[in-house]
Amino acid sequence: MRSQATFTALTLVGSAAAFWRMPCRSQTGVGRLDPIMDAGSISGHVHSISGGGGFGFNADFDSLNAPGSCTSCEVTQDHSAYWTPTPYFMYDNGTAVMVPQVGGMLAYYLYYLQNVSAFPEGFQMVAGDPNIRNFTGPFPDTDLSSWPTDPTDQFFLQQRAIGFNCLNYAKTPEPSLYRHQLPSKEYMDANCADGLRFEMAFPSCGNGQPDSKNHKSHVAYPSLVKEGNCPKGYDTHYPFLFYETIWATNQFSGENGKFVLSMGDPVGTGYHGDFIMGWESADFLQKALDTCTNPSGQISDCPLFDIQSDAVGAKCTFDMPDALKDDDVFGPRDGLPVNIPVQDGPEPATAYAVAGRAGVSTSSLPSTTGTSSWAVPTLSYTPANPSLTSTALGGIVVDRPTGGNYGSIGPAGGKSEPAVPTSSSSSSDDGWSFSSSTEAPTTTAPAALSSSDGADIIATSYITTGNTIVELAIEQVEVTVTATPSAGVKHKRHMDKHRHAHRRR
Ligand SMILES: *[C@@H]1O[C@H](CO)[C@@H](O)[C@H](O)[C@H]1NC(C)=O
Ligand SMILES: *[C@@H]1O[C@H](CO)[C@@H](O)[C@H](O)[C@H]1NC(C)=O
Ligand SMILES: *[C@@H]1O[C@H](CO)[C@@H](O)[C@H](O)[C@H]1NC(C)=O
Repeated sequence: MRSQATFTALTLVGSAAAFWRMPCRSQTGVGRLDPIMDAGSISGHVHSISGGGGFGFNADFDSLNAPGSCTSCEVTQDHSAYWTPTPYFMYDNGTAVMVPQVGGMLAYYLYYLQNVSAFPEGFQMVAGDPNIRNFTGPFPDTDLSSWPTDPTDQFFLQQRAIGFNCLNYAKTPEPSLYRHQLPSKEYMDANCADGLRFEMAFPSCGNGQPDSKNHKSHVAYPSLVKEGNCPKGYDTHYPFLFYETIWATNQFSGENGKFVLSMGDPVGTGYHGDFIMGWESADFLQKALDTCTNPSGQISDCPLFDIQSDAVGAKCTFDMPDALKDDDVFGPRDGLPVNIPVQDGPEPATAYAVAGRAGVSTSSLPSTTGTSSWAVPTLSYTPANPSLTSTALGGIVVDRPTGGNYGSIGPAGGKSEPAVPTSSSSSSDDGWSFSSSTEAPTTTAPAALSSSDGADIIATSYITTGNTIVELAIEQVEVTVTATPSAGVKHKRHMDKHRHAHRRR
């Protein structure tokens, strides 16, 4: 009845007890701003920005939470700023145009590490490095059991914290964080009929500081990116923050050219994400982390959250600084905004003059003299909690029914169509499984779904085709772990029927 494929991927078994998924369905703006890396001045490249409307060259906790400020996210208490570089399609003749974004962004807050702490007020961080132009590992990743249990090599982990998910709703979905660089244009034309989902995983081990000089070394990835051992000195456990954005790369199918990220990266390994904590208070976020543990991941299942409509969120934009008003960030235009050179690698990208900054006028010229200011910190390591590592249990099973078995719901904001009363779930004794299922938005799980005893849905993912939206539930199957049962583990055993709810993306 169903096709099954096994992939090696980063998804793990073990300790995730809960999560929620923050939808921020519209951008607050697209422009050359990066108040973390380029605070107070023009950023070197264009970003697509969501979240708090108090964004700008100097955005921080206070400006994002200034009285009366808005958010483009659905939870009104979350004014955090979330941003990533913008992808462009560059035709062979050099004309570049922004790739349209589909459905806004999702920011997942997943509790993979134990005892997650709220990001403190003033906290900000960067994940990834815009200058990297090569991926050094095999594809697909080797089995998790072969990964170092020592997280000292943050470069290794950072490269695997990037995902480009080739979307084709007629085929078996790829797992999260499966490929770590952009597929070739030819591959996308042949396979990614529904576009590309960009994924960025943030470090979740912290040293307790809200920031650091390079905006990276106060946080670190645990040994398996999502979970595992934290490096020595990084004993604060934050939620695992994971950004998803979908881009309509399929609109360029058959065209000659290439996809290039805004910083002149046609490889994809320079993909990165930025986050400024802008929840109304750290206390509120802590309360949410402690109490919003419904395994559905739906923000509507957390009574603390005040939810606004997407129409209200869409009105939230930040004031574009005057210095950027003449930037044509959408195109079509000649070359990337604003004349940023494309650098193919594999050697790291070098700095270029930034148009509009002091001493540089309207055009920026390639330079060969720059060096990266994004150095990865060197870390030492002591095994923190080996019993939670569960490396031997790694691996993903992607499982979906054959024969067009996906359910459908109506257009976003519209009425639901009748659910197709079929479903599929699977269990596996060696890892997570992704199950696609069909169910009306408000009904309880059909009987067929209770087949996999001990399975828990710990995360979900969405696929969209036209007006049809399908939720893929990431199911945690029963595994043997040697950890002493904690509150989280006990909770896991009590998760139940929320496995297969459909929602709008
Ligand atoms: C470059 O090619 C594209 C696709 O054929 C076309 O739309 C665009 O106008 C061309 N640009 C120039 C400057 O000729
Ligand atoms: C989590 O908190 C509980 C209760 O405070 C404590 O017993 C446990 O050791 C903590 N676990 C970790 C990994 O810090
Ligand atoms: C790959 O990228 C890394 C990090 O930027 C760099 O150190 C290395 O030299 C690059 N490899 C090649 C072959 O250029």
